[in-house]
Amino acid sequence: MKILGIETSCDETAVCLIDASGDLLASMEPLAKTGGDFRYNILGNALYSQIATHAPYGGVFPNLAKREHAKNLVPLLQSTLQQSHLLKYGTTSYDTEKTNELLEREPELFEQLSIFLAKYEKPDIDAIAVTYGPGLAPALWVGVNFARALSFAWNVPIVGVNHMEGHIVMAMMKDDTFGELEFPLLSLLISGGHTELVLSREWMHYEIIGRTRDDAVGEAFDKVARILGLPYPGGPHISRLAEIDRATYAQSRISFTVPMLHSGDLDFSFSGLKTEVKKYVESHPPQNDDDRQSIARAFEDTATRALIVKTKRAIEEYGAQTIVVGGGVSANTHIRAQLIQEATPLGLQVLFPPPELATDNAVMIALAGYFHAIKNNYADADTLRADAQLSL
Ligand code: KG4
Ligand code: ZN
Repeated sequence: MKILGIETSCDETAVCLIDASGDLLASMEPLAKTGGDFRYNILGNALYSQIATHAPYGGVFPNLAKREHAKNLVPLLQSTLQQSHLLKYGTTSYDTEKTNELLEREPELFEQLSIFLAKYEKPDIDAIAVTYGPGLAPALWVGVNFARALSFAWNVPIVGVNHMEGHIVMAMMKDDTFGELEFPLLSLLISGGHTELVLSREWMHYEIIGRTRDDAVGEAFDKVARILGLPYPGGPHISRLAEIDRATYAQSRISFTVPMLHSGDLDFSFSGLKTEVKKYVESHPPQNDDDRQSIARAFEDTATRALIVKTKRAIEEYGAQTIVVGGGVSANTHIRAQLIQEATPLGLQVLFPPPELATDNAVMIALAGYFHAIKNNYADADTLRADAQLSL
């Protein structure tokens, strides 16, 4: 089955095409291992990161993001189909009025899509999967309306995908199939907008058992980076500085307080840690790279500790057998190493997405969409709406 994935929830515009078959066959027995015949491969994958557009503002501007998505979706679609050898000259006959109605608020996108449909015939695809939440509302709407317009024009069914499920499913993959999974499965979702512990007693069932009470961990990385004068998004920069410090000094020279250590639940909080770093920087302004490296390391160590403590507690409370780590922050090498170090003695598998597919992309959306499509869980293209607050 060929699935086109579309992702526009934040500041990456992404389109991809995957070819997938089979399913994960999870036994209903408690603590059951999974098997199955699922296989997938990526036929085409095109992504435009708006980082450079938003960097001067130190964060993502929703309306600017929306404009950039509208400008880039058709070129990315074209590139994806070209890579997949599915771009064929011809004409798609479709109801132009319907497309016009759906893209009423995106005249530039309507214009580009009209030219595209007049030039190329309907590609051989089976379904369209699009992120419909959570995310920035204006950004989500462009992707959703674009997907709806394509669904009508090509007469192909549509699947609405929860962005967070996309991160989870992506992290479950190893090569062209699933990694070794055992349920109950615990997902640690760490991104710019989310920090959540999600329990799956069964495949495709999700229960949020812990969440951040304020900032997401990625947001804390980005804010601390800003305090240190580093560019947006700050996560990779903090990580790089922290690694230099670890290679230079055996021990961290500063220590911050691990937040929520004794909260007695599975929740997180990162805004206090950010404030502690801010106060430290105000009283000890960094004079050089060495100073910035020591602060970056101490922050990363502390944030990592907070994630580890609650993840371990969740493993104990729920008897989790597999740990899946998803979201942009799962690209962080220190967090990866620490989680593996904690989980290995417990005999647990920890699965991460390939670093290049840890941050937002359309492959994760096409994958999650595929598992809904094979269950016939399609959306109504007439009524599919973006839902900025969508929860798992
Ligand atoms: O999942 P994602 O691409 O977008 C959201 O859905 O939020 O995550 C983006 C977040 C940003 O906060 C970014 O700073 C962080 O992921 N990030 C990292 C690293 N790479 C990206 N944080 C820490 N270490 C990294 N290597
Ligand atoms: Zn994300």
